[in-house]
Amino acid sequence: MKKKTVGMAASVILVAVVLGTFVWPNPVIQNPSFACALTEGNPQGPYYIPGAPYKEKLGESLEGQKLIISGQVLNQHCDPIPEAIVDVWQTDSNGNYYFEDFTLRGKIKADKYGQYKLETIFPGKYSEAGFMRPAHIHVKISAPGLLSHTTQLYFEGDEHHDFFVKPSLILKLDEKDGTRYSDFDFVIFTP
Ligand SMILES: [Fe+2]
Repeated sequence: MKKKTVGMAASVILVAVVLGTFVWPNPVIQNPSFACALTEGNPQGPYYIPGAPYKEKLGESLEGQKLIISGQVLNQHCDPIPEAIVDVWQTDSNGNYYFEDFTLRGKIKADKYGQYKLETIFPGKYSEAGFMRPAHIHVKISAPGLLSHTTQLYFEGDEHHDFFVKPSLILKLDEKDGTRYSDFDFVIFTP
């Protein structure tokens, strides 16, 4: 193996170790008999802070392109999960996380139909272990009596999609009057 190839392989392993210190908390149960396919998991990463307040609008005081993501939280039978909690954290448009005051961090409570709406700014990219991560939003989905499910949402057309990106987690985007819109339904397992 050439030196360059060895170096590249070592870097990939390093990234996997750094990014993957995280447990992949909830492996998706692949069961083709489910009417709704469960949302695939993704690592939590190192920047989660528990205890974010409830708020539907994130980053209101920050510059950036407005992004609205809405949809439903469902179970494997496609039944809505009322009052499910969508716990979100993300970077600003320059790829910076904030660690005080829960800036760009917040929990959204779905309504009785499991519907949620997140209003935020489009996340920027950042370099981790020498690799550029694609734009993404971290999410933990939970509901009373259920274990939380952790994943990341990505966006179509991003040239930095890495090995964590799964096609099912790539959001399609629409744009109107300078705001980007996307729909995404989370599907988590309920016993
Ligand atoms: Fe991240």
